[in-house]
Amino acid sequence: MLRAHRTKSGLSLTQFAARVHFNPGHISKVETGKRSPSVTFAKGCDRALNVGNTFTAIASALEAATRQQQGWVQPAQLPAAKRHFVGRHDDLHGLDGLLQGPEQTLAVPVAVINGPPGVGKTALAVQWAHRAANDGHFPDGQLFVNLQGPEPDTSAAPFDVLEDLLRTVGVPPSRIPAELDQRAATFRSYLNGREMLLVLDNAADAQQIHPLLPGSPRCAVVVTSRSRLPGLMSLVDVASLTLHELCQPDAAKLICAVIGKVRADANPGAVAVLAERCGCLPLALVLAAERIVSHQHHSAEALATELKPQQARLSLAEGDVVLRDAFETSYKALDEQSARVFRGLGLLPDQLIDVAGTASIAGVPPEEASLSLRNLAAAHLLARHDERHYRMHDLLRAYAADLARQLDGKPERAKANGCAADPIPALNSLAATTLVA
Ligand SMILES: Nc1ncnc2c1ncn2[C@@H]1O[C@H](COP(=O)(O)OP(=O)(O)OP(=O)(O)O)[C@@H](O)[C@H]1O
Ligand SMILES: [Mg+2]
Repeated sequence: MLRAHRTKSGLSLTQFAARVHFNPGHISKVETGKRSPSVTFAKGCDRALNVGNTFTAIASALEAATRQQQGWVQPAQLPAAKRHFVGRHDDLHGLDGLLQGPEQTLAVPVAVINGPPGVGKTALAVQWAHRAANDGHFPDGQLFVNLQGPEPDTSAAPFDVLEDLLRTVGVPPSRIPAELDQRAATFRSYLNGREMLLVLDNAADAQQIHPLLPGSPRCAVVVTSRSRLPGLMSLVDVASLTLHELCQPDAAKLICAVIGKVRADANPGAVAVLAERCGCLPLALVLAAERIVSHQHHSAEALATELKPQQARLSLAEGDVVLRDAFETSYKALDEQSARVFRGLGLLPDQLIDVAGTASIAGVPPEEASLSLRNLAAAHLLARHDERHYRMHDLLRAYAADLARQLDGKPERAKANGCAADPIPALNSLAATTLVA
């Protein structure tokens, strides 16, 4: 089949070899059935001959059969993909670039999906990983680890994570080393030469994920994080992908997919307003849509009206999933001054934010205001608008304003929560004017 496709494309063995980066002898052996094609080789053939996934699928099936004979452990730890996954075509396509890594470089391909709380980082990583596995990539298995996010108290320790990973890939407990470095080295040894995908979900920082990274370029890693993971680039080659809210049509589509066509068609205008009131943030959209489904009396219109006041939107919750909690984990990981600045910014009306304005409302020098703004942007609690300006998502602003009212208005309570007790005078007066307005 390979020979037929190659000759049909008018390529000699040598010409084809130059395209797939394998030597002509190797290709000849595969064509004459003397050698089994690896998935990496097959991917090269698919690309060179422009035949979709044809040869990758065959090579994957061959490898799977071999592994089954040898009794290899083949983890398949990906959580279920979402039935109603919408949009993100460019991001999925961007992640496909990971699959082209091995031919061009010896570095292990690593992609970091970062963005604000609830924007859909995990959903995207899982969706892409399922797609890739279904297309025959990563035939040696897919590992998925929840690293438990940015809060220092709950964040997973690499030492423990490696123990779980080593057990999963079949290393007997007696052979799991007692030192972090040795655990990391054993993990890399196990993965060497295998085509595995590692999804590291909800990473706190670069130090947490560095010991978990494979060394083999046949593996790939997708990391999700609310942080941009500063410092990671100095340790490994990474491709960074920042997720933003969904576009308005996709946000409405997500609501429609969850509430069903009948409810959605009853009032498409209300669905659009509801999407807008959820700030097109997937977590808020899903919670709103679920509320409509679970409270049968709710229509999109009734819920959109209920969510008209900004503060009401913070109460979106279904079961254990609470919008406010998602914001809180990021807020709690902030240093004291950035947290204060965040609360202060919540009291501003919807407007662009700059260093001078922030310095004046927080009562700090511009250098400190600038540092806090950068910290907030790094945690995706603010988004960069242009070189000089930032903006805050409506829902985050509502959350920050709520915190400011609770904490900065009542110093005693602030102390009890372990946050800054000293209210910022300028901030308080601004709060008063904003609230009156
Ligand atoms: N493109 C999408 N299509 C459909 N549902 C989505 C999409 N993106 C996210 N969701 C849903 O929105 C909710 C929040 O998404 P997700 O958990 O992936 O966000 P996250 O960015 O990983 O949040 P966190 O910062 O808390 O880890 C989930 O219920 C998820 O299934
Ligand atoms: Mg997540």
